[in-house]
Amino acid sequence: MRILGIETSCDETGLAVYCTDSGLLAHRVHSQIDVHAHYGGVVPELASRDHVRYVRPLVDETLEAANLSVRDLDGIAYTTGPGLLGALLVGSSFAKSLAWSLGIPALGVHHMEGHLLAPLMETPDLPLPFVALLVSGGHTQLVLVEGIGRYRLLGTTLDDAAGEAFDKTAKLLELGYPGGPKIAALAADGDATRFQFARPMTDRPGCDFSFSGLKTQVLTEARRLVAEGTLDQAAKADLAASFQAAVVETLVIKCQRAVEQTAASALVMSGGVSANVSLRQALKALESDGLTVAYPAPEFCTDNGAMIAYAGALRLASGQQDTDASIHIRPRWPLAELPEVAL
Ligand code: KG4
Ligand code: ZN
Repeated sequence: MRILGIETSCDETGLAVYCTDSGLLAHRVHSQIDVHAHYGGVVPELASRDHVRYVRPLVDETLEAANLSVRDLDGIAYTTGPGLLGALLVGSSFAKSLAWSLGIPALGVHHMEGHLLAPLMETPDLPLPFVALLVSGGHTQLVLVEGIGRYRLLGTTLDDAAGEAFDKTAKLLELGYPGGPKIAALAADGDATRFQFARPMTDRPGCDFSFSGLKTQVLTEARRLVAEGTLDQAAKADLAASFQAAVVETLVIKCQRAVEQTAASALVMSGGVSANVSLRQALKALESDGLTVAYPAPEFCTDNGAMIAYAGALRLASGQQDTDASIHIRPRWPLAELPEVAL
């Protein structure tokens, strides 16, 4: 089956064609960084309009790169939630109309399931069950994956998501948007041991997270440095590096705990924050004879159409599809509500 994947849940328009026999055939991502940078964050209405502008030309570009025409498609998978309401509506209405006009099935895909299964595109033989760390702009979750659609939540954030903590900290250091890559770039020149920020909730049992206090700690230090007149670029780099080290160590401690608690023999990570080089290195260091560690290539960590095409292909191949032509989106949608797929 050749499945077109369409991702429009936030600030990237992602298109891809995934083939159940030969894998990923092509993918394209249009980032809206330039649209939102001026405002310091995503403006939902501008995001919707930009998706409208780019989704159609990107379909043509992606199909051309795959050397296919729309008539070669067997199904269309699109992100139906969670995400921004208007942005989701653009992808959903476009996908359903195209599928209807071609007489092929459409299927709404859960954005976080896309992230969750993305590591399997390159490492399909991971042993089940495995632990997945989902770290994006809106989510920080540890999930035990027992099968496709069999997801047990082990831990989640009680306040800010990891990506949100990066974004807010970047904003208070006046680094601009998107915060994660800006902090990571600055941290490369900083001293991660200069400021001792907390590793939140690691002293308590369980796998939950809390990141909002960390940004307050950075803010307090930044204000102290401003009062001293010493908040220069080097001090900012030290703040960024110390903050990043705190987030990375906290995530790694909780991952270790989740693996021990479940006796899983594989650990995967995905979502935008998993593009962070320092986090990738720290997680890979957990690998041992009894534990495989896997994560997608950086381009498949942040939002993309390939993960939606892949998750959709698994579900469409098992016979699932939307049952009517009406458009349903799920801006809020717990992962645990997904139906199971027999393997
Ligand atoms: O998965 P994603 O592209 O979109 C959502 O579904 O939210 O994740 C975006 C998040 C943003 O918070 C962004 O700052 C963060 O991922 N991010 C990073 C890096 N690249 C993206 N955080 C830390 N280091 C990075 N290199
Ligand atoms: Zn995402």
